[in-house]
Amino acid sequence: MHEPFHNKTIALGVSGGIAAYKSVELLRLLTKAEARVRVIMTANAKWFVGPGTFQALSGLPVCTSVFEEGDASIRHIDWARETDLAVIAPATANIIGKLANGIADDALTTFMLAVTAPVMICPAMNTHMYEHPAVQHNLDILQGFGHRIVEPDAGSLACGTVGPGRLAAPADIFEQAAGVLTPQDLKARTVLVTAGPTRETIDPVRFVSNASSGKMGFALAQAAIRRGARVILVTGPVALPDPLQAEVHRVTSAAEMADCVLAQMPAADVIIKTAAVADYRPVQTAEQKIKKTADRLSVAFERTTDILKTIGEQKANRVLVGFAAETQHLQDNARQKLAAKNLDLIVANRIGESGSGFAADTNRVTLFFRDGREEGLPLMAKDALAHALLDRVVPLLPAA
Ligand SMILES: Cc1cc2nc3c(=O)[nH]c(=O)nc-3n(C[C@H](O)[C@H](O)[C@H](O)COP(=O)(O)O)c2cc1C
Repeated sequence: MHEPFHNKTIALGVSGGIAAYKSVELLRLLTKAEARVRVIMTANAKWFVGPGTFQALSGLPVCTSVFEEGDASIRHIDWARETDLAVIAPATANIIGKLANGIADDALTTFMLAVTAPVMICPAMNTHMYEHPAVQHNLDILQGFGHRIVEPDAGSLACGTVGPGRLAAPADIFEQAAGVLTPQDLKARTVLVTAGPTRETIDPVRFVSNASSGKMGFALAQAAIRRGARVILVTGPVALPDPLQAEVHRVTSAAEMADCVLAQMPAADVIIKTAAVADYRPVQTAEQKIKKTADRLSVAFERTTDILKTIGEQKANRVLVGFAAETQHLQDNARQKLAAKNLDLIVANRIGESGSGFAADTNRVTLFFRDGREEGLPLMAKDALAHALLDRVVPLLPAA
């Protein structure tokens, strides 16, 4: 299963910037994901957040000095050897300068020279400091060492300036760290994911839609990004934040979804259609709100474009994955859809089962492959299911 932090040791370096408090949040995310986190602080970082906070939350001693009373071990070397990933968040202009020049005058800088695991540097400082040629030059040097620089966000900073320099959000740093620890089996591939319901308008205040929450598609988008893909996500109206680093297109109707998906399709190596697109839309959209007068109201519907079928016809060597939500005859309906839409794989789930289907956080599905294979997966969280599906999509890809 894809749990990138499980049994992994992360070294979290904290230097003396105002954003040091945010590394507490990063530590929480890492420990929740089952990472073993060793925190190494500069002396100045202690001025911003006490080591006790990091110690309590990591459950491990915090290193603040190369030389500690009663400890004759060469800890920075031992720790460096046991590290799977080193993250410095926040990284001050000072620590960036020291690392670029191989200076080792405290615990963190000494450790960083000894570590051979991947390194992520998350700068945070005043905009003028960040834009200073010395800092930019030093960041280029660190990038040249193979370190990953997590760009700071732009916005209003604690010092009152507005511009780049704010520490990237802990969730963003966490996601990038997960990517570093995940095999990049979708690197250089583009994955197009559709998600959510569509809305078909009856009048200015009413529409027909369905209960799709978008969770499965968003989980797939994030999982594919973690595995190195460029991800284009086309979603109907859902209450979910954009997956980090996805190119998100928000649409409303089936017609808009069709236009957007067909425009994005040429770039895609894999297309995964989790969206619950309306099969029918009102023939006419009333210009004014329909008033409550007659006892009965009939609305005539017409077919929408069958996006999946259209894609299937233009599939070429793309991997095409569809979803089927069924209330009955799951196997027959899924197999029929697989063939009719020229799919490589269809993911079928039975609506109405507990823990499965639209708004749930879990799903139990059966997979039907083009070559006739059938595989039932156990009930699992949608995040885990997303990775399980991608595990099965990767072998279907033509060689890059
Ligand atoms: C209130 C305050 C906030 C600071 N915030 C930052 C910051 O966000 N980024 C930065 O590079 N330096 C910041 N500094 C300056 C650093 O603390 C200073 O350069 C220090 O030498 C860094 O030491 P270290 O890199 O060993 O932790 C701040 C200083 C103060 C007093």
